[in-house]
Amino acid sequence: MSQKVAVVTGGTRGIGLSISNALIAEGHKVAAVYFGNNEAAMKFEGAANGNGKAFKFDVSDYAACERGYAEIVESLGDVSILVNNAGITRDGMFHKMPEENWHSVIHTNLNSCFNMCRVIVPGMRDQKFGRIVNISSINGQKGQFGQVNYAAAKAGMIGFSKALALESAAKGITVNTVCPGYIETEMTGHMNQDVLDSIVKQIPVGRMGKPQEIADVVSFLVSEKAAFITGATLSANGGQYMA
Ligand code: CAA
Repeated sequence: MSQKVAVVTGGTRGIGLSISNALIAEGHKVAAVYFGNNEAAMKFEGAANGNGKAFKFDVSDYAACERGYAEIVESLGDVSILVNNAGITRDGMFHKMPEENWHSVIHTNLNSCFNMCRVIVPGMRDQKFGRIVNISSINGQKGQFGQVNYAAAKAGMIGFSKALALESAAKGITVNTVCPGYIETEMTGHMNQDVLDSIVKQIPVGRMGKPQEIADVVSFLVSEKAAFITGATLSANGGQYMA
C-alpha cells in the first residue's frame, strides 16, 4: 500500500501504541493522539524515526478535535486512515455508579468517535478513499459486570460503524469495528487480580491477548486487501465470546 497518513487516538500507549507502530511498519505516517501521558508520547516519537508524531488534545471535545485535525493535516498531510482507539474505564456496579462515571466514559469512548469521524470523514470523501477502524470491546458485545457505562459506549461504536459504513461505501471509505477481548495492557493491569484470574479461566485459548494481536487485525483492515470488508465487527478474544 502506498504511504498514507493515519490518525490513531490513544496511540501512544497500550493497544493504540501497538497499532501506531504496526502502521509505521507498514510504511504509513502516524499521528498518535494522546491526552494524559507526555512521557509515553515523547517515547513514542523518539522511537518512530520521524514517521510518527504525537498530538496532544482531548478527543471528547469537538472543538479540540477540529483544531487537532487541522494541525495534523498541516504537519503530515491529508488523512486517509483513522483508528478510534482512545478509551477509559470507570468500572463499578450500576446501582452505585456516580453520574460523572457514566458521562466521562460515554464522552471519551463514544463521543470521541463522532468527533474524530466528523472532522476527518469530509476529507476522506473528497479523496474518495478512507479506512476507519473503531476499537470496541468484547464487553460491548456481551456486557460485563461493573461496566454498564463502558459496555454502552462500546456497543454504541458498533452501531455507529455500521451506519457510517453504509453512508461511506460509495466513496471508497470502509468503516469496521474490532472487538478485542482481554488484552495485556495497563487497563487490564489495573484490575483486581482475583477478578482477572477468573476471567482468564473463561478464555478458551487459555491466556490474555497481546496488543500486537489487535494491531495485526487493524493493519489488515486498513490495507488495500480489505477493500471489500465494511460494516464488519471482528472479534479477537481467544474464543471467549463468539458473536
Ligand atoms: N460475575 C458474577 N458475579 C459477579 C461478578 C461477575 N463477573 N462480578 C461481581 N459479581 C458479584 C459479586 O460476587 C458480588 O456478589 P454478592 O453481593 O452476592 O457477594 C456482587 O457482584 C458485587 O461484587 P463486589 O463486592 O466485588 O462489588 P464491587 O462494587 O467491589 O466491584 C465490580 C464489582 C466493579 C464488577 C468488580 O468486580 C470489577 O471491577 N470487575 C471487573 C470488571 C471488568 O471486567 N472490567 C474490565 C476492565 S478491562 C476492559 O474493560 C478492557 C476490555 O475491553 C475487555
